Amino acid sequence: MYVNFWYPVCISTDLTDKPIHISMLKHDFVAFRDKNGKAAVLSDTCIHRGGALSGGKCKEDGTVQCPYHGWRFNTEGVVTRIPSLGINAKIPPRARVDSYPVQEKYGLVFAFLGDLPEAERPPIMPIDEYGTDGWRATVMSFDVDYNYERSIENGMDPAHNEYVHPTHGYSGERESEYKVHELEPSQVNPWGWGFMHTFDAPPLRHWLFRRARKVHGKLQAGSGTYGPNHMWTWIHLSEKFWMHQYMFEAPIEENKTRVFLVNMRNIFISKYDWLNRIYDKTVNKRNMMVAGQDIVVVNRLRPVLTPNSRTKELLMPHDKGVLHYRDKLDEFEGRGWKIDMDGVNAARAKGDVVYAIPSPARRQDKGWVLDPVPLVTPKQQMAQAAE
Ligand code: FES
Ligand SMILES: [Fe+2]
Repeated sequence: MYVNFWYPVCISTDLTDKPIHISMLKHDFVAFRDKNGKAAVLSDTCIHRGGALSGGKCKEDGTVQCPYHGWRFNTEGVVTRIPSLGINAKIPPRARVDSYPVQEKYGLVFAFLGDLPEAERPPIMPIDEYGTDGWRATVMSFDVDYNYERSIENGMDPAHNEYVHPTHGYSGERESEYKVHELEPSQVNPWGWGFMHTFDAPPLRHWLFRRARKVHGKLQAGSGTYGPNHMWTWIHLSEKFWMHQYMFEAPIEENKTRVFLVNMRNIFISKYDWLNRIYDKTVNKRNMMVAGQDIVVVNRLRPVLTPNSRTKELLMPHDKGVLHYRDKLDEFEGRGWKIDMDGVNAARAKGDVVYAIPSPARRQDKGWVLDPVPLVTPKQQMAQAAE
């Protein structure tokens, strides 16, 4: 898991003035809206004596109140009130928790979990067609019981469609004609690599999707990554009928991931809203069915995490997307952004330390109560230190 990227927190409409607990990167966060509707994401651990802010309440002054002794934290994470000191008491400068930059985009609330200044932050994966004519968006989320890297790598793998998705392939029944061809690079960006590929595809049987492909045909599809946890998948059911899916994944812990899927489509759009709502439901149900086919297989991959060594799998040329993704992760580790999960787990097992993901304010202000999460020292630095 990596700091310094944007992570999806929740669906925008699910966030109100009731604080909610969110688990990401094996850390606890509280999310809430202040009285102006502005979304805030803070470290959940109260720096007084460890209360969970998400168990508290939002107050009329736009703060969240710890349920243990009533300290109030504003959206910047700064304590504005310590009731036990009496009214108008001076608040010590260390009385603050980390507050993370927030953006609401594509129907989702995102938090930047890291301390980089604004100009240096890797962006949220763009969805260029969002809000444009001829496209309609739906958003949904679901949890899976595996590591987010396994989930992303599954999306970057063009060879599984034939065997895992009967809607995209022939379940191996036309093996003599089946082959994954050269992957055409697509949407290559500073934070990830992607490809498109042409598949032979069976007729679609579903009452709605039949309109896109009634007979055996070609399906153009591909995927790419953007940072460690954002991935696009474009499915061009036919020349005209396109579905563009954008996955924003939140690693909850090693073997738990919350996937947010923004589905864009240029088909099944009506001038009637009631009909669009039926289409939305049908498309989401269909996406969940396809995701379910992946979940069955990915749930049983071993080892549970992607292996550390590339010699412990026998990869083929069409696994190139997976390798490009792993190269990017190595690059992020080289920047010093990889969380030392052994360190996090050791602290958890002992139970007497809680870390915080450092927020940008730590670059200016000193004197934070919680220690920052331990990060893996990049190999290069280790080599230099050894010299
Ligand atoms: S633990 Fe939060 S106010 Fe005391
Ligand atoms: Fe799949």
